Amino acid sequence: MEEEDVVDPWTVQSKSAAGVDYDKLIQRFGSTKIEPPLIARIERATGRPVHHLLKREIFFSHRDLELILDRYEAKQPFFLYTGRGPSSEAMHLGHLIPFIFTKWLQDTFDVPLVIQMTDDEKFLWKDLTLEETHRLAMENAKDIIAVGFDVNKTFIFADTDFVKDEFYRNVCRIWKCVTVNQENHIFGMTSADSVGKIAFPAIQAAPSFSSSFPLIFGGRADVPCLIPCAIDQDPYFRMTRDAAPRLGFPKPALIHSTFIPALQGAQTKMSGSLPESSVYLIDTPEQIRDKIMKYAYSGGGSTVEEHRKHGGDCKTDISFQYLSFFLEDDEKLEETRKAYSSGKLLTGELKKQLIDLIQNIVAEHQERRSQVTDDVVLQYMMPRPLNA
Ligand code: TYM
Repeated sequence: MEEEDVVDPWTVQSKSAAGVDYDKLIQRFGSTKIEPPLIARIERATGRPVHHLLKREIFFSHRDLELILDRYEAKQPFFLYTGRGPSSEAMHLGHLIPFIFTKWLQDTFDVPLVIQMTDDEKFLWKDLTLEETHRLAMENAKDIIAVGFDVNKTFIFADTDFVKDEFYRNVCRIWKCVTVNQENHIFGMTSADSVGKIAFPAIQAAPSFSSSFPLIFGGRADVPCLIPCAIDQDPYFRMTRDAAPRLGFPKPALIHSTFIPALQGAQTKMSGSLPESSVYLIDTPEQIRDKIMKYAYSGGGSTVEEHRKHGGDCKTDISFQYLSFFLEDDEKLEETRKAYSSGKLLTGELKKQLIDLIQNIVAEHQERRSQVTDDVVLQYMMPRPLNA
């Protein structure tokens, strides 16, 4: 029997060199594929072309995105919600993807955004103290702010600071309507897991509900959210969507991305737990060059002659995959695809193109991040009304 891909908040593993079979995953998770008519509708509603991550099917799946578009067209409010688990100082390129896309959504739809930093989650799952995960939350917030979110429309919070008042009341409401059995089923938790791990999913669920943020939504409980994330986070929101109607709240809508694969190949994702699988936002130009040269799995021929004859395989070639995430110019990407598949472009040349691009992106990110002081972080983290 064919083995199923494993995709959950902790593991992404596929047997195939082309990576996770996302069509099968959609069927298994019960989400909906983003098809061209939906993309056309977004373009009509917003009057602009969609982001390349959407056009290239990197954001490929959704739940109830149509309902969010209905609201947008009817000029009714909604908000965006995303997050980060601060487990290390160094975020990697994969972590950047949902934030880049969220910024585009915020700019395009002009809506409030809440960003949850789950310092409690990383304390519970990793060998880190609460003081350390809180410090990492503040550091990672600088990387997130450096993506360019509008301070007037964005609230960032760390759980250990903000879980109280209305937010905590919603956590209690969620706790009461989810059983340990349901969690076992959704997350595979067992009775050997700490009670903290069993309790945590409600804390990731609570920001989906506008009543958790009375300062932002004036106490309204009926404003729905749209959650951009990679599809590994979906289990949390399946649980949330199940609980929402029982609490009288709207279900969160979702828009899911695929994973940036590990440098070594698409069988697994770029992951902070495997340092050699990742390009980090703190890497130097030399480190970026060395990692890509040494590790980036090549779908090219084993000799130059063979490559010229048969061409390279863009579906498994990691450098090409990374270009499709980060190279915005559609024509240039298509040119590269043709040249590599026909054997005209060699692996070394393709890697060089990727190295230049990633070195630039990381250097620009580092420059913007260096402007983000502790005071700037505190502005984003101050509970306040947002004027979106
Ligand atoms: P975390 O810190 O593991 O990941 C942060 C965001 O990055 C996405 N992601 C990736 N995207 C593309 N390619 C990859 N290789 C890759 N690796 C990670 C994740 O899906 C996530 O969107 N529990 C969460 C924090 C959280 C959250 C949320 C995330 C709290 N509330 C709401 C999304 C939406 C976590 O540990 O994320």
